[in-house]
Amino acid sequence: MIDQTNEVSHILISSEELDAITTRLAAEISRDYRGKNLLLLGILKGSVLFMADLMRKLTIPAEIDFMKVSSYGSGTVSSGNLKIYLDILRKNPEECDILIVEDIIDSGRTLSMLTRHLRERGIESVRTVTLLDKPSRREVSFTPDYVGREIPDYFVVGYGLDYDEKYRTLPYIGIPDFAFRK
Ligand code: IMP
Ligand code: MG
Repeated sequence: MIDQTNEVSHILISSEELDAITTRLAAEISRDYRGKNLLLLGILKGSVLFMADLMRKLTIPAEIDFMKVSSYGSGTVSSGNLKIYLDILRKNPEECDILIVEDIIDSGRTLSMLTRHLRERGIESVRTVTLLDKPSRREVSFTPDYVGREIPDYFVVGYGLDYDEKYRTLPYIGIPDFAFRK
């Protein structure tokens, strides 16, 4: 078996810090969504570990669902450039207060298109929590409602995030050695 930790020797966010981040976010979300119909909408695949840790720390009821989407095209930002591979399964999602759970925001295209798409489908209550945010990379304006941590412009992997489908299983966020040149 290949030891992937050899290829990701720089740890940016440790397991302990990830634990503290999800604890803080779960407390904020539990406070803000008390008495509402919270549906956590995880964006596959990157958000799975973040979602799993976040949901078990909530102190309010919540449903979960998933979408798999990607943005394509670099021209105008419209929901027409959103490719949906897996759609929400929940019937009548407009009955819910949807909180999109994302791993990382980079250009901002995916979430800008996805939130617009959901609102066009009649879902009024759509907000976003992202584990990581790279604000310096933004190409379209998008501001998440909850942020785990802002990071500089590094390519990061682990805790759900991949490079070419590798490294998702690492329990921390790290910078792969090939990307750690700055
Ligand atoms: P955006 O539409 O440019 O904001 O793209 C966000 C998506 O790009 C994320 O959901 C990730 O799948 C991917 N991504 C962006 N930056 C990274 C990174 O540093 N590591 C792994 N995936 C990334
Ligand atoms: Mg992703």
